[in-house]
Amino acid sequence: MLSLLALSDGEDERSFKFNLFVDDALIFNWSKNLKKFTGFDVILGNPPYVCARNLPEETLLKLQKFEVCKSGNSDLYIPFFQLGIQNLKDAGILGFITMNSFFKSLNGRNLREYFKQHSLNIKIIDFGTEQVFKSKNTYTCICLIEKSHNTTIKYCKSSSLSLPTKQSDYNSIPYIKLNSKTGWNLNDFETISKIEATGIAFGDLYKTRHGIATLKNDIYIFNPVKEDKDYFYLQNGSLYQIEKGICKDIVNTNKLSRAVSISNLKEKVIFPYDNADKPSLLNENFIKENYPKAYNYLLNKRRILDNRDKGKGEYENWFAFGRSQSLEKVKNKLFFPKMSDRVPSYIINSEDNLLFYNGQAVIGHTEDEMLFIKKIMESRLFWYYIKTTSKPYSSEYYSLNGNYIKNFGVCQLSDSEMDFVLNENNKNILDVFFEEKYEIRLT
Ligand SMILES: C[S@@+](CC[C@H](N)C(=O)[O-])C[C@H]1O[C@@H](n2cnc3c(N)ncnc32)[C@H](O)[C@@H]1O
Repeated sequence: MLSLLALSDGEDERSFKFNLFVDDALIFNWSKNLKKFTGFDVILGNPPYVCARNLPEETLLKLQKFEVCKSGNSDLYIPFFQLGIQNLKDAGILGFITMNSFFKSLNGRNLREYFKQHSLNIKIIDFGTEQVFKSKNTYTCICLIEKSHNTTIKYCKSSSLSLPTKQSDYNSIPYIKLNSKTGWNLNDFETISKIEATGIAFGDLYKTRHGIATLKNDIYIFNPVKEDKDYFYLQNGSLYQIEKGICKDIVNTNKLSRAVSISNLKEKVIFPYDNADKPSLLNENFIKENYPKAYNYLLNKRRILDNRDKGKGEYENWFAFGRSQSLEKVKNKLFFPKMSDRVPSYIINSEDNLLFYNGQAVIGHTEDEMLFIKKIMESRLFWYYIKTTSKPYSSEYYSLNGNYIKNFGVCQLSDSEMDFVLNENNKNILDVFFEEKYEIRLT
């Protein structure tokens, strides 16, 4: 208002010296460029959204000097917080719009600890799954940080169209209750803390595992266009015969966010390993002699296989899967997807020869234990936990990755309660049971 009046009344300065500097912020030294520099009163920014794997070597080297970059592989926005705070005057204000992944991510661990150690006075307006920048597939928040001390963080889950206007729009969360190591649960802090404080952490009770990783699924995994006594027929450019003896059944468990039955998901995978409980890669000559058609097919696709891992992969042999994970036979598995936009299907399977890819499984527990955890994971409470704490993807999908479920507290049940849960199949009754058990009302 004042500057507008100054302009209209001709009282404004004729020319300005803006003092603009254009340089690499990661190495720029303000004290050397501004006389008597004591820090800025206000810093505003929209730090670059570049994830660690897309950063050039020279930038990675520059990140090493920032303490906030020393947990995991830092994204480029993370050091800008430390830079900003270091260059602020006491009681100065920093305002960033930036990615919200640091609340929970491994590479945000040191940044969370940095905020906590300095007990910075932070207000966060979290846009959750809203994509504020329409052209960017990214999840953002606004951080307003005053360089002064506070024992709490103020947090508001908001939409960009109805920003908070008063203090009471924010929830106050004591730093002391936030865990820098496992991640900040800022959204519905009370409920989530209650869930995590119940029973024993999922990650301490259950082992989860990812499926096999060929690194070229469209070469190894197929839906036969036909079959006869000895061969499956694989259409990939040409039509190839593949000996049935070198194939196994496989399911894409990521499809469980929609599908409800394993039989609809079964495909074939060319499995160049033996049939031991812990399979070893077959010898090349053995494959050539015993499965000549499959060998011929793989040889035909060798150039594509050699290009896995940008041509730098070191595999046991050129026809081996890209990674050797999850080849072992496992009797009891509870399959579920890596991400979903709704309560997905959790399917117990005991075919030890059935492989899986893309999704995940809880493995190595008795059938009753599997059934119990399936019922918890299918509950409204578990899905609420995921939606509130997990990493969002586009179209309201949320990650069910081990990291996002390992802190879920699994309630301990008496024998009779366990009996009830194992035998009750009405989902609504189970939802109410679990919510009473956790003393949480979701409706
Ligand atoms: C998300 S954009 C924000 C652009 C603009 N400030 C805005 O809000 O529209 C991030 C900007 O940071 C710049 N940037 C990336 N790395 C930088 C660095 N090391 N030093 C200074 N600027 C950098 C990028 O070139 C890009 O323009």
